[in-house]
Amino acid sequence: MDKHTRLKLAVQKSGRLTDPSLDLLTRCGLKLSRGKDQLMGFGENMPLDVLFVRDDDIPDLVQEDVCDLGLIGLNVLEEKRLELAARGTRARFETVRTLDFGHCRLSLAVPAEQSYDGVRSLHGRRIATTYPFLLGRFLEQRGVAAEIVTLSGAVEIAPRLGRADLICDLVSTGSTLQANHLREVETVFESHAVLIRTPVELPAEKRDWVERLLLRVEGVEQVKESKYIMLHAPRSALAAIRRLLPGSESPTVIALDGFPDRVAVHAVCRENVFWETLEALKGAGASAMLVLPIEKMLA
Ligand code: PRP
Ligand code: ZN
Repeated sequence: MDKHTRLKLAVQKSGRLTDPSLDLLTRCGLKLSRGKDQLMGFGENMPLDVLFVRDDDIPDLVQEDVCDLGLIGLNVLEEKRLELAARGTRARFETVRTLDFGHCRLSLAVPAEQSYDGVRSLHGRRIATTYPFLLGRFLEQRGVAAEIVTLSGAVEIAPRLGRADLICDLVSTGSTLQANHLREVETVFESHAVLIRTPVELPAEKRDWVERLLLRVEGVEQVKESKYIMLHAPRSALAAIRRLLPGSESPTVIALDGFPDRVAVHAVCRENVFWETLEALKGAGASAMLVLPIEKMLA
């Protein structure tokens, strides 16, 4: 297959999005062969190659059509959008889908021993960040004139080095803040991963594969929380049991040989099934309950 029929997807080389991105692609059925330290992974069973790059480069790679698709945090995307807007241009990447991973937030954090009296108290303070545009918008919307100290990394040590009074940085587990004796005081922006695509119209073969990939992504995301539940119940308890099944559409009801008053119920639950639910089902007359994970789903 030639270069024009293989999709190119940009993924963060090393960071919070790398493992979940690859995990998503694996669940979508992609078998990737990749040599050690290689920047490009070759899709063995799909016409799709994965490019491993710095996350900050992904929006440009996609809007300049070097890559067809990109998996990127909304934080990087929005920062880029604002940066382009400030230069009078418009972002050209298109967001195709929001994804349920890479959840984190851009937050303000002060040295742990320092008090914090709300956003107004930030007047005239120096805030170190690698997200000057998101921070700038946040401060402007609140009418606060603070000094933004734009750094390219190691933001968390800026207060100790005397370069800033506080910081504005990404927080996911919070361990970086804790290790640097910083206290989170304000959320500036909430983020998660998204799938973006090139603004350029794709040739038919590529378009087909983008569509297939999207359907698979949808299936993978649906399956995450879903469970398959099987149980036995008295026929008379069916209505009550239906009401107790979390997020299920019409369940399958099967006759049990030799037990005219009892049935088997099979249902897909779109939410997790907790012990409490099983206990309530038991209370309603259910028995022989099984809860199974679902591997794949396609509507
Ligand atoms: C962010 C941020 C912190 C860390 C916070 O960096 O700069 O260092 O993650 O995560 P934690 O709350 O789990 O400790 P990121 O991984 O986004 O790297 P990058 O900014 O260099 O892309
Ligand atoms: Zn980055």
